[in-house]
Parts: sequence; C-alpha cells; structure tokens
Amino acid sequence: MNKHWRELIEDFRSLILNFQIENGNELEEFRIKFLGTKNILKPLFAAISSIPNEDKKEYGLLLNQLKSLADEKYSQFKELSSSTENKSTEDLSLPADLTRIGSRHPITLVMDKVVSIFSKIGFQVVEDREIEDDWHNFTALNTPDDHPARDMQDTFYLKDRNDFLLRTHTSSVQTRFMTTHRPPFRILAPGRVFRNETISARSHCQFHQVEGLYVDTNVSMADLKQTLLFFAKEMFGKDVKIRLRPSFFPFTEPSAEMDIYWGLKDETDHRITKGTGWLEILGCGMVDPAVLDNCGIDSKVYSGFAFGMGIERQAMLLYKIPDIRYYFENDLRFLRQFKNA
Ligand code: PHE
Repeated sequence: MNKHWRELIEDFRSLILNFQIENGNELEEFRIKFLGTKNILKPLFAAISSIPNEDKKEYGLLLNQLKSLADEKYSQFKELSSSTENKSTEDLSLPADLTRIGSRHPITLVMDKVVSIFSKIGFQVVEDREIEDDWHNFTALNTPDDHPARDMQDTFYLKDRNDFLLRTHTSSVQTRFMTTHRPPFRILAPGRVFRNETISARSHCQFHQVEGLYVDTNVSMADLKQTLLFFAKEMFGKDVKIRLRPSFFPFTEPSAEMDIYWGLKDETDHRITKGTGWLEILGCGMVDPAVLDNCGIDSKVYSGFAFGMGIERQAMLLYKIPDIRYYFENDLRFLRQFKNA
C-alpha cells in the first residue's frame, strides 16, 4: 500500500511533465485535466483519509507539490502563448498586439528640460568621461592637494590606478573643454557624478548634475545672475523667487549658491526643503582666473561664469518623490508612473 500511493503520485508527476502543449487547445486541455473543477488530482486529495496517519504529512506535501507543478507549467505556457500567439493565423485584419512602451526616467525628463531651456539661449551640450584623472577633476580646478574633497572618504579612486577617479562633479567637463577649445563658448554638460556617501533617503553615492560654462570677453556676475533667473523662471514658473547666497568653491571667485523658493504646500516640500520652503539647486560663480590660465586661456583677455546644478532634488520636488533611492532601483511600478510626463 505504502509503495502504491508513492508510485501513484510519481505516475501523475510524469503525466504532468510529459503532457505536450503546443497550441492553445492543448493548453486548455491541460488546464481542464489538471487544474479544472473536475481535475484528475482531486481524487488523490480526497483519498487522504485512507492514508495511514504516519504517512499523511508526506502524502499531503507530495500532493501539493504536484499541484504547484501543474500550476507552474500552465502559467509558463500561458505566458509563452500570449507573447507569441498570433490570435488567429487566418484573420490578417486583426489589430497587432501592442508592445509595452517604456517610459523615460524622471532624471532624464528633468535633464532634458534643463538642456532645452539653456539651448534657447545658445548653450551647446557637451558630454565627457565619468572616469577622470586627478588633474581634470581637481588640480586644474584649483583644488589644493590637501582639500577634503580629495579624501578617500569622499572620492572613489580606481583600485589599481589611484591617479584615476570617478568624477565627483561635472566641473571636470569644464577643464576638458577649456583645454581643447578657444573662447567664446557657452556649454552645458549633463552627466552622472559619484561621491563616497552613505546611502539614505536624501543622499546617494551617485547622482546627476548639469554644468554650465560661459567664457568670453567681459562676462560679468550680472550675466550669471540674469542667466540663472531666466532658467529658474522657465523651469519653475515666472513667479519663482530666487536668492544667491555667498559661498566658496576653489574654482570660482566670487562664488555663490542659488536657492529657489518652492513653498511648503505638502509633506514632501517640508522634508526636501528642511522646513524652509527654500531649495538649494546649484553652486556657481565667476571662473577663477587661475583656472582659465591652467587651461591655457588668457585670463587677462577672457572671463567667464560657471554653475553646476543637482538634478535629483529638483526632480523630487517636481514629481513628489519622497526618497532618492527610488531613482536607482529600477522598480517598474515607480518608472511606469512617468509614462505621460
Ligand atoms: N562643482 C560644484 C559642486 O559639485 C558646483 C559648481 C559648479 C560650483 C560650477 C561653481 C561653479 O558642488
């Protein structure tokens, strides 16, 4: 008897495994036979009362495995048939299956918007490498050897070549461009940057910036301010308020940070602006003459301004995204929400 029920289950197992499914009809046959209301596994479940007590547990377990096997086989073939089956080979007038169209990532949406705003006023997009050398990321930008940003704690250096690093800001594109082009120029450099930060809801070890650089004769701080105001209005609406706070960067002099007033309409606003309603979106300043000279541009003839803005936080406010980690997890439930954005 013992052997008998084990053998019986084994027989059903092979029956499921060997059942040929090559078309929709066979798939339906399979469903009726193993999963339908009168499926052939049912009597086995009913027979549990006749199984000796000490075997009941094992018997039940094996039966359930049998059932899952049938379930799995069915859903596997069902998926296959719905992706390949042309509903009816005869009727060519039926509409084609719609392929699922992807959506653009919120970071891409915001970066594209920034690029399109600045292209209206003559900025040209330039892209460059993410793995940089120390000179283009730090030295040429006037960052002294003992500056904390150069620390291993802040910057990812390559393991075997520690004169190379993952760029910590898109300002490296400034030096790449200035060493190979002569002014006047107006460029915009969108891209990914990396810092050795602990990952949390507010900060990540990778994020995105858009860098701007304008070099010509007689470029002034007033030009910078007008350009940024123009940007803020286009991006956040014509009533937006901005403020420039004095700041410090080794490669600009004077330097400032720009905040926009977003307001405190809801919970995300409170959290992202730390309860102030103001959001810092960029660092900027007049290109330090030493940087121009480092790159072979005569600082007695030319001057320029530069800015570098963070993208993640702007996107958080614009789309009410509560946590920066969502950007990098590629969860389709998150990404699909930007279909119509
Ligand atoms: N690179 C700076 C940062 O990452 C931003 C910046 C760019 C500041 C250009 C001034 C000029 O914080």
